[in-house]
Amino acid sequence: MDRNLALEFVRITEAAALASARFMGRGDEKAADQAAVDAMRKAFDSVNIDGVVVIGEGERDEAPMLYIGEKVGRRGSDSPAIDIALDPLEGTTICATGGVGSISVIAVAERGNFLHAPDTYMEKIACGPRARGKISLNKTPEDNVKIVADVLQKKVEDVTVVILDRPRHRELIERVRAMGARIRLIGDGDVSAGIAPCWEESGIDLLMGTGGAPEGVITAAGNKCLGGDFEGRLKFRNDGERERALKMGIKDPDKVFTLEELARGSVMFCATGVTDGPLLKGVTTLPGARARTHSIVMRSHTGTIRRVEAEHNFNIKNW
Ligand code: FBP
Repeated sequence: MDRNLALEFVRITEAAALASARFMGRGDEKAADQAAVDAMRKAFDSVNIDGVVVIGEGERDEAPMLYIGEKVGRRGSDSPAIDIALDPLEGTTICATGGVGSISVIAVAERGNFLHAPDTYMEKIACGPRARGKISLNKTPEDNVKIVADVLQKKVEDVTVVILDRPRHRELIERVRAMGARIRLIGDGDVSAGIAPCWEESGIDLLMGTGGAPEGVITAAGNKCLGGDFEGRLKFRNDGERERALKMGIKDPDKVFTLEELARGSVMFCATGVTDGPLLKGVTTLPGARARTHSIVMRSHTGTIRRVEAEHNFNIKNW
């Protein structure tokens, strides 16, 4: 995959972040999400790719833009054929309430290399590079916490696990608490939370629990670039969702998918902060109709991690 594309993708997530950040704290999730979708969709038009959205805003009948299967990019004869997993605004509620950790994100792979995850739930576990290949959904939460403590040379009491604050996680939370490990309960946003264990400074060592399956594929791509690990097991709410997974080509819907099965080959990951979070600072508005964005662009092929800080002048280019 052409490395120059990386900076093109930053422009796209920057556009979505700038547009949705205008809705920070305004209590209107739909408007924030729509602004991000519109800006991202428009920004794709200028990029020389032959892209297909494989993880997007939903099925064609429910999402008019950036739906699964939509073709994006300039799509010329020399455009590379790529698959795109995107979330124009990951953490819509976070943005609408001015909370912590909403981002705009795109992950890219060569055609056919992302798991086509249906819009259902996924049980997830994510860790940083030191615990790679050691943690697993086939192990108990207790074993996984002990493994992470061991490889990080920390006491179990000093390990921090991030878990979505949901009733479905009551037992998991109780078990982690019983071990004496620390927990950071989050309201939303398990993409940045799942990538956070790859940054030592984030203070997060492990993500466990069930969240959106599409977000799982995006998190796997991010952790691949950072040398971390991820596993996911689809969790269906009904038979219809299971059927849908089979139709989308998933042969064994109950298996534990490894990071490599979710995001194969060489992948690229790009995110821009909307509100301040563990991974990225959010959009900062500056005097004189300007704004600053903070993004991260990574390629698994080279392991290069770029942090991009950009200043935007709304007098010249408005979003
Ligand atoms: P949105 O950006 O679509 O609002 O998703 C936020 C999120 O918290 C994800 O990070 C997470 O994977 C999922 O929702 C969890 O789903 P639910 O809120 O149904 O438990």
